[in-house]
Amino acid sequence: MIFEPLKIQYDLVSWLSLAGDRIRQSMLGPIQVSTKSGPNDLVTNIDRQIEQFYVQQIRAAYPEAQICGEEGFGDRISDLHGLVFFVDPIDGTMNFVRQRQNFATMIGVFLDGQPLVGAIADVMRSELIVGGPQIGVQFNGRPITLPDQQTLADGLLGVNALMYAHDRYQLQALAAQTSGVRVIGSAGLEFMSLITNQQIGYISALSPWDVAAGWAIGSALGLEVHNLAGTTPALRQREVIVAGIPAIWPAFKKLQN
Ligand code: IPD
Ligand code: CA
Ligand code: CA
Repeated sequence: MIFEPLKIQYDLVSWLSLAGDRIRQSMLGPIQVSTKSGPNDLVTNIDRQIEQFYVQQIRAAYPEAQICGEEGFGDRISDLHGLVFFVDPIDGTMNFVRQRQNFATMIGVFLDGQPLVGAIADVMRSELIVGGPQIGVQFNGRPITLPDQQTLADGLLGVNALMYAHDRYQLQALAAQTSGVRVIGSAGLEFMSLITNQQIGYISALSPWDVAAGWAIGSALGLEVHNLAGTTPALRQREVIVAGIPAIWPAFKKLQN
């Protein structure tokens, strides 16, 4: 079966736009918040509703695809064979609940384990990036590329707050070589910052649905996405992910495990 990335791109843009409308509408009423693994791991009724919406759309348009969704409405994935949709209905749920902004909705699509198409929407800013290795990248409907010859010293590094505070992997020494660190609280928006050239690198422990969309889009622009061991993310479990411009990769490689 041949899957046309442009058709998938079109579908993702349409679904993310509808989901964004639904999320903004839902914020006018009460939101039910509960915890998952701990007090700072939140989920809301909106996360669940939006994932169910995506699953319905994907099943109707791509019945042969597997779905890996954060809130559990997709499939139990046993391998990455064929078309796999990685769904994060609200990325940055803590920001959604506490700040009511600075969160994303996103989907990454892989074919036989290779990045095909990704889409990330910054819901409250109504910004959307979409793309993949075969189709290039668009930001709000306009094609974008990254500048050549970017250096570590001229850019900001996105970090996980706890990792940085505890100097995991001797991250502070790497950060000292950059223009500074930033903590956004949404993996999707961190990838959006990389892809739109606002940041040059990002490090955090991420689940498959946190990394798939950004990896699919970023790989089209030559961004590096690895785990700490320097190999391709497995997209099967949570792992430490380092992503960024090629110039940052030698510095990431020196991080102590
Ligand atoms: C989380 C956010 C956060 C990142 C966590 C993710 P969620 O996603 O992207 O920035 O540090 O690792 O789990 O749970 O809000 O979808
Ligand atoms: Ca989520
Ligand atoms: Ca997430």
